[in-house]
Formats: sequence, structure tokens, C-alpha cells
Amino acid sequence: MKILVTGANGQLGRELRTVLERDFPGQTIYTDIEELDLTDEAAVKRFVADNDISHIVNCAAYTAVDRAEEDKALCHKINVEAVRNLANAAFESGAKVVHISTDYVFDGRTYRPYNEADKVNPVSQYGTTKRQGETALIALAPDSVIIRTAWLYSPHGKNFVKTMLHLGATQNEIRVVADQIGSPTYAGDLAEAIGKVLASHQWVPGIYHFTNSGVASWYDFTKAILEIAGVEGCNVKPIPTEDYPTAATRPFFSVLNTSKIRATYNAETPYWRDSLVKCIKRLKENS
Ligand SMILES: NC(=O)c1ccc[n+]([C@@H]2O[C@H](COP(=O)([O-])OP(=O)(O)OC[C@H]3O[C@@H](n4cnc5c(N)ncnc54)[C@H](OP(=O)(O)O)[C@@H]3O)[C@@H](O)[C@H]2O)c1
Repeated sequence: MKILVTGANGQLGRELRTVLERDFPGQTIYTDIEELDLTDEAAVKRFVADNDISHIVNCAAYTAVDRAEEDKALCHKINVEAVRNLANAAFESGAKVVHISTDYVFDGRTYRPYNEADKVNPVSQYGTTKRQGETALIALAPDSVIIRTAWLYSPHGKNFVKTMLHLGATQNEIRVVADQIGSPTYAGDLAEAIGKVLASHQWVPGIYHFTNSGVASWYDFTKAILEIAGVEGCNVKPIPTEDYPTAATRPFFSVLNTSKIRATYNAETPYWRDSLVKCIKRLKENS
């Protein structure tokens, strides 16, 4: 097996390094934009062929949800054209692809957890391009596995947990949206699930949903972050979405049903608070 991890310096890519070095030692090449710009079609084809890649895990993406509303061209280039380049390279070489997508392909107006077959209706540029990436991949490399995830955090890069820890330590009050519901997901758990897909004796292509178990609003999530980290003296105030205007519209309810990936690949979906405890412990050890 020769695995290529793209976007390997991002949150998920970094967590995947730990899992793959443990489970597939010496069998993985990690690249980010400096080593392999996925928007360069010829470079992607050459890299996959020259390195005899058997599996590609694409963790690269344009993930700045609000900036994407202005920065439409770059967002499209990374979330759609780059995925198309990977799909073409995979089709030509026979490599299998694991690609990561998002709960933001849904509009969040269905108040029950979304199944993989549910109708998509993205309400942002980010969500629209991520969906276009999915359809491009399915059309060009139908043997691919697509994993939609949500509300990702880790000890690396920029994310909601790190932002709230910073605000909690420096502000007396934080106002947080309490009417958007989802499942906070630890990138370390998603990396373990991807490891299981790669190690599985059966390869079952298609779309899968993976998040941690349980649901929360951004307000609940913030309360848990500060409580677990032991941050005191900061009042967390619940507010409605309309009081926190953002460039991109976000789904109100984007909880994903994860039973398919659990049944097919035996993936584990720990309770979100338990995983949050693990992440905050690591953040404290690193600081
Ligand atoms: N973060 C979330 O809350 C969330 C929620 C649902 C789904 N997801 C999905 O989960 C996946 C992983 O997200 P993440 O949070 O780990 O993302 P991330 O931390 O933003 O990492 C993405 C990585 O891709 C790199 N990249 C950007 N353009 C590239 C290019 N042209 N060629 C090669 N690499 C490029 C980025 O480099 P630069 O930093 O230099 O741009 C970055 O290192 C993505 O598919 C994302 O859409 C994320």
C-alpha cells in the first residue's frame, strides 16, 4: 500500500499522520500545497503515477466559510477543480480515493439527523463548492469513499475550541449562537475512522457521514470548552443567529446520522464531550 495524504498540514492531516504512522508505518507520503499544489492538474497526475500511489486521502480544502463568499474563485479552485484533478489522476492510475466533505452540503431545515441519501441543498459558497467536489469525484472516480464530517476541531491550526479558549481567557463575556445545532467532532476520531476505512478488507465506495456522537449548539459547545478547561470569570451568553450576522449562511440543524460508517467500517464515534476532554488535555500539555 502506498498512501498519499494531501492537505497534510491541516487539522485533519496532522491527526492522520499519527494514525497512519502507527497503522501503516513507512507507507505514507504527506503533502501540502508547498509540495503538491492540487490545482496543478499535470503535477497531480505526475505525482500519483511517479510514486505508485494506491490510496489518496484528500484532507486539502478551502475551509474559510465566511471568506469564501468573497473569495469565490479560489474556493472553487480548491474545493472543486483540485478534487477533479485528484479524481482524474486516481482514475488513470487505479488509486482509490478517500475524500472529506461537510455537513454544510445540507440546508439544515430538516430537524432530524441527515442520512447519506438525503437531499442536499447547500446555503453557502463553501457548501456549494464542497458538494460540487463530491459530484465531480463520483462522476470521474466512482470507486471513491466520501466522508462528510462537521464542526471539526483539534489541537492544530485555527478552530472553534482554540478561539473560545482564547476569548474565555481574555474577555468577561462571550456571546455565542445558541440556535444552530450540530455535532462537534474531534479530528483525531475522524483520523481513526479513516484508518479503519484504509485497513478494511472490503472497500465499499460511496458517501458516509462521520461525526462524534451527541449534539450541541455552539453555545453548549462553548460552555463545555470553558468548563472542561477550567476557565472561570467569563460569562457565556446565548444569542440567536440573527444577532451574530456572518457573510455565509449556516444550516440551523446539521446533525449527521453516522450509522452507515459504523456498520460498514466499524468506525467508532465517541461522545463529543469525551473527545473534547482529550483535545483540551493535549492543548494544555502542549502549552
Ligand atoms: N474545519 C471544519 O470545521 C470542517 C467541517 C466539516 C468538514 N470539513 C472538511 O474536513 C476536511 C479537513 O478540514 P481541516 O479543518 O483539516 O482543514 P484545514 O485545517 O483548513 O486544512 C486544509 C489544508 O489544505 C491545504 N490546501 C489548501 N489549498 C491547497 C492546494 N491547492 N493544494 C494542496 N493543499 C492545499 C491548506 O493549506 P493552507 O492552510 O496553506 O491553505 C491546509 O493545510 C476538509 O475537506 C474540510 O472541508 C472541515
